[in-house]
Parts: sequence; C-alpha cells; structure tokens
Amino acid sequence: MRVMGIAGSLRQSSYNRALLAAAVELAPEGMTIEPYEGLADIPMYNGDLDTDELRPASVVDLKRRIAEADALFIVSPEYNYSVPGVLKNAIDWASRPGYKSVLSGKPAAIGGASGGGIGTARMQVHLREVLYATLVHVMPHPGLLVGAAQTKFSDGRLTDEATRQFLANFLRDFHAFAAARRG
Ligand code: FNR
Repeated sequence: MRVMGIAGSLRQSSYNRALLAAAVELAPEGMTIEPYEGLADIPMYNGDLDTDELRPASVVDLKRRIAEADALFIVSPEYNYSVPGVLKNAIDWASRPGYKSVLSGKPAAIGGASGGGIGTARMQVHLREVLYATLVHVMPHPGLLVGAAQTKFSDGRLTDEATRQFLANFLRDFHAFAAARRG
C-alpha cells in the first residue's frame, strides 16, 4: 500500500514534518509512506488557471500523486483553531472537479502536533469537515493528537517513546482501514 504523506507546515524544523518522518519509519509491513514535498510550490487557488491548458505544473503533480496513492496520511499544525491556509489551499486545488476529483473515495488518516495541550484537536475537527466535502474517507479514530510537542521532539525527531508506540499502533489501524476501503 502506497500512502502519500502530507505535512501542513512549510517550516524546516516543523514538528509536523518530524511527525510525518516518524510515520515513515514506523509504518507497518505492507505500507510505505512517501512524504510530499511540493506544498511550498502550490500557488493560491485561482479558478481562471484551473483548466487543462493553464493549470500550474505543481498542481498537476499534486493531483497525479494523489491519484497514484492508495491512501493519504495528513498531519498538520493548528493555526487559529483551524487548518493552515497552505494545506487548505492545496486541498482546494485537488478537490476539483467537485465530487469527482482525485480525492473522491480516497482513504485517509489525519493527525497533528502542537505546543498546546490538546494537540490540534480543533484543527482536526475542521479538517475532517473539509475532507468530508471532497468525499475523502477519513478513518474514524479517537485521534492522533500530539500535544506539548516541545517535550516530545528533539533535533527534528520524534523521541517520546509512548508517542512513537501510539503512532505505530495508529498506522496499523490505518493500514487495516485503508485496505478494507480498497476492497
Ligand atoms: C499557531 N499555533 C497554534 N497552536 C495551537 O495549538 N492552536 C492554535 O490555534 C495555534 N494558532 C497558531 C496560529 C499561527 C498563525 C501560528 C504561526 C501558530 C502554534 C503552532 O502550533 C506552532 O507554531 C507549531 O509549532 C506549528 O507547527 P509546526 O510548524 O511545528 O509543524
């Protein structure tokens, strides 16, 4: 199973990018997570450019990668209780044509890390709602909520053992969920 991993932060020393890197390491047998590195190259959505002739190459690449993936693993910071614009913008590009896009029917799991106590819980409620509009199937799960991130990462690596174990179990659940969705 090939999983496209997306971190909703462009920061080099991002906790969420580090969380995604840990997921690459901890993915169960039979699942490969490939981090998507193109988010910084996606321009702001412009419907005038969303045509087969004018669509930016970065967006074409984003959509191709989504189409080729069996599932999506999205981890993101929470910005002002919601989804960072950079991530929402990429989802908006990928979501067209509405209800018939490369996102439609794609299994996904979501999570996030933040310095706060509730580890992106409010962002995840909004992200679930946004993905619902795109017909992505988000795994029902109590959640991958990594709070107090400054105590769990060091030098760009997830070092907290309990969180690593939780993530490994989460990915095992996701593997089973996505496999069932694929039939
Ligand atoms: C934040 N941060 C933040 N944290 C949080 O728990 N809830 C929030 O609503 C917000 N809001 C917010 C808005 C903006 C504009 C910024 C820049 C930051 C803090 C955020 O969680 C922190 O910067 C994380 O380290 C960002 O994630 P990465 O980049 O480390 O993955």
